[in-house]
Amino acid sequence: MKIERVCVVGGGTMGNGIAHVFAQKGYSVTLVEAKQELGDKALATIARNMDRQVAKGALTAADKDAALARLKTATTIAEAKGFEFAVEAVPERLDIKSAVFAELSKHGAPGAILATNTSSIPIGEIAKSAADPSRVIGMHFMNPVPVMKLVEIIRAKATSDATTEMTRALTESLGKIPAVANDFPGFVSNRVLMPMLNEAIECLREGVSTKEDIDTIMKLGMAHPMGPIQLADYIGLDVCLAIMEVLDKGFGGVKYKPSPLLREMVAAGKLGVKTGAGFYEYPKK
Ligand code: CAA
Repeated sequence: MKIERVCVVGGGTMGNGIAHVFAQKGYSVTLVEAKQELGDKALATIARNMDRQVAKGALTAADKDAALARLKTATTIAEAKGFEFAVEAVPERLDIKSAVFAELSKHGAPGAILATNTSSIPIGEIAKSAADPSRVIGMHFMNPVPVMKLVEIIRAKATSDATTEMTRALTESLGKIPAVANDFPGFVSNRVLMPMLNEAIECLREGVSTKEDIDTIMKLGMAHPMGPIQLADYIGLDVCLAIMEVLDKGFGGVKYKPSPLLREMVAAGKLGVKTGAGFYEYPKK
């Protein structure tokens, strides 16, 4: 099956980045958002991020215009009817994702592949709502999507070899590098990353060091592009907490216990960059 038409469900940080790269690489994309204003906001973000690429010489103005012309928004999945590939990037709740997969199953072309960008919900659970779980797979993009090279591909037990191979090839066509993991809690990326961020937050809570020095130690000492406290703010502290809870539930034991300070920050509504404050302040520009 040749993949030309792609449906992206959800236009938030991850969804707009995913729609951006598919459109940039020549796919016809329908971006589905619950309300037209949200779809318009996602399109404006994509245009702004493409402008950054144009300013850096990574994209020509003509290619930007062509990419935006391949991108349309819709408020229902039915309007994207006939897509060969879908990526779901709605909020991290199984009930919401299940409803999306049931709907996607009705409107795809025969044989369409349904991917989820979930960072923590088991792919096998989401696949239960699809008509054919062998065509369901995890396609976990990293933030910021237009910049990060990795796509973690997650196979559930029912995912077929053909689905995995098509998703791998599609990932490469986006100029990204696929790496495959099986459907365990947190997959590989978040099972390794989140305990490190959580431990950095514990260092702060216990007074081992200041947030600035924790970040400097990991940035300059381990050549990470961002320090762990800064990265937790960037990902969203609510997302970090939700992933730690999935690891804690899945594996138990001390090493996956969410930091009490992380819980406090989330309870206080300080979620990081997206709310204007987390461990650091992010004044509106
Ligand atoms: N769209 C397009 N381009 C973007 C962009 C976006 N949304 N965000 C940044 N860029 C571009 C910039 O234009 C710039 O381009 P050039 O290299 O051509 O100059 C480049 O990316 C670097 O950006 P900046 O100069 O603004 O800033 P920076 O050098 O500090 O880099 C960063 C920013 C890329 C975010 C870098 O700090 C970084 O790599 N941080 C770590 C990010 C990370 O770990 N992501 C994974 C998070 S985990 C996850 O996503 C999964 C999960 O489930 C939680």
